[in-house]
Amino acid sequence: MRKTFLAFTLAVFSILIACHPSKKNTSHSPAQINPYQYSITKKVIAENGAVVSAHPLASKAGVEILKQGGNAIDAAIATQLALAVVYPNAGNIGGGGFMVARLSNGETISLDYRETAPNSAHRDMYIDADGTARTDKSQDGHLSSGVPGTVAGLFASLKYARLPFAKLIQPAIELAEKGYTISEREAKSLNNLQAELKKLNTVMPVFVKNKWEKGDTLIQTDLSNTLKRIRDSGAAGFYEGETANLIVAEMKRGGGIISHEDLKNYQAKVRTPHSFSYKGYKIVSMPMPSSGGLLLNQMMKMIETRNIGSMGFQSVASVQLMTEVERRAFADRAEYMGDADYYNVPVTLLSSDSYLEERMKSYDPARATSSTEIKPGVSPGTESKETTHLSVIDKEGNAVAITTTLNNSYGSKTVVGGAGFFLNDEMDDFSIKPGVPNMYGAVGGEANAIEAGKRMLSSMTPTIVLKDNKPYIVVGTPGGTTIPTQIFQTLVNIIDFNMNTEDAVYKPKFHHQWLPDEIMIEKGFPQSVKSELLKMGYSFSLEREGIGRTEIIKVLPDGKFEAVADNRGDDSAYGY
Ligand code: DON
Repeated sequence: MRKTFLAFTLAVFSILIACHPSKKNTSHSPAQINPYQYSITKKVIAENGAVVSAHPLASKAGVEILKQGGNAIDAAIATQLALAVVYPNAGNIGGGGFMVARLSNGETISLDYRETAPNSAHRDMYIDADGTARTDKSQDGHLSSGVPGTVAGLFASLKYARLPFAKLIQPAIELAEKGYTISEREAKSLNNLQAELKKLNTVMPVFVKNKWEKGDTLIQTDLSNTLKRIRDSGAAGFYEGETANLIVAEMKRGGGIISHEDLKNYQAKVRTPHSFSYKGYKIVSMPMPSSGGLLLNQMMKMIETRNIGSMGFQSVASVQLMTEVERRAFADRAEYMGDADYYNVPVTLLSSDSYLEERMKSYDPARATSSTEIKPGVSPGTESKETTHLSVIDKEGNAVAITTTLNNSYGSKTVVGGAGFFLNDEMDDFSIKPGVPNMYGAVGGEANAIEAGKRMLSSMTPTIVLKDNKPYIVVGTPGGTTIPTQIFQTLVNIIDFNMNTEDAVYKPKFHHQWLPDEIMIEKGFPQSVKSELLKMGYSFSLEREGIGRTEIIKVLPDGKFEAVADNRGDDSAYGY
């Protein structure tokens, strides 16, 4: 818990540091991206296409691909691969993610490349003989990693792309091979990581250094070689051959359990998105194994008939109503949600109007419902910021929302020796013991218990809103369990409070997740509202410096794309 708090504090601290990468070198890469000179752009209005992501170089890589004739899926693949190089704390090939897309032919799809539990994983693998839950093992080092899904996901999404994969991966290869200039924020983040890197690695990775400084060039030769193997051999360049050998050797050296068989058997899955209507809009989001789409559905449907617009943005009444629906949705998450391929999640029931109305019978606009009235439970912890989202749109009518993660910052903190990439610590998203909170304070039980091959429950909520059956909003964010509530609030800000896009993202957020029974608020949340809510029986946790990093694209009435990057980080929007 102390470690999680420390990680959170460092993440918050790093967000406060301004970032102006220095200019060390002016050489141009063939992909027309200068990795030594780039700027953070928070908003763009574009006619042909736009990309928003956590790093300017990754957004640029995506836009270059659009300019070269790629569609939004091509650009999303290139952006994701570039993030794996320039945003190593969350961009990844050693983790997993979800894509939600609306294709130009009108089809909506979702792609699940979430990590899986290795074949020799089992329900009690993190429980000691005396019953102690070993969150140290589920959150750090070799044993915390699920079988990575990202590379399989990239190749599964290629089916909807247009350009050859070699072209899409080229910017990432160049950024890894020639290096890029790191910012003050990145230097600080790497410096803070040194002790853990030394402790959790069997081969010292390139990230280990006495002191990183703003303006240093980070060259990742091992990673560039891994990327070249993927370029040359496809998914087999990761799941088989040299890269697989390096992963398995790393596991053997560090006591991990991912095997050749686990890697070879990994499969991304095309799934039907979780879709629902809200006030005439169609919301398309991620189904299980993410709780995101269902939670968003539950929360939005519980407010739909209650005219929240007339209550006003961050009025006592609207915050209270949103808090109460968040509480009810998250109580269901803990009990019923998990990988639907392994556990029968009652999605239809949980999203039915009659069930949700029944849930709201205990809602009292004059006082706080107690979480013990909704369901009993235990006390959880904090959130970190190290997942990453990208939103992409093109003029052909393709829209892509991808959220991808290593789980917390730099995942397991273990880099595969000789292969140059961090492995995830996603095993902690399982319920490692009933009632024991994961690093986001989420509790669970049977539905999300560990089982070989199963995917751990996620909160990631890549979402596309359709208006008149055309893309209107493409949105997503990191933030652990705060993800669904942030997307909920961003959408309500736009649809019900008629807010402009920047305000909808930048205004302070709040979060309730059933347990702990308290409201988490972000700096700037109105104190007068807090005082009134205290009187009604609500509790508050410590104020947060920042909640999430939302990347959003909205289609304007004239058909142009308004892309807005969150101001809580270095996130950047590019378009043309
Ligand atoms: O899948 C999940 O819900 C988490 N592993 C996401 C982690 C995350 O968002 C971390 N960053 N804030």
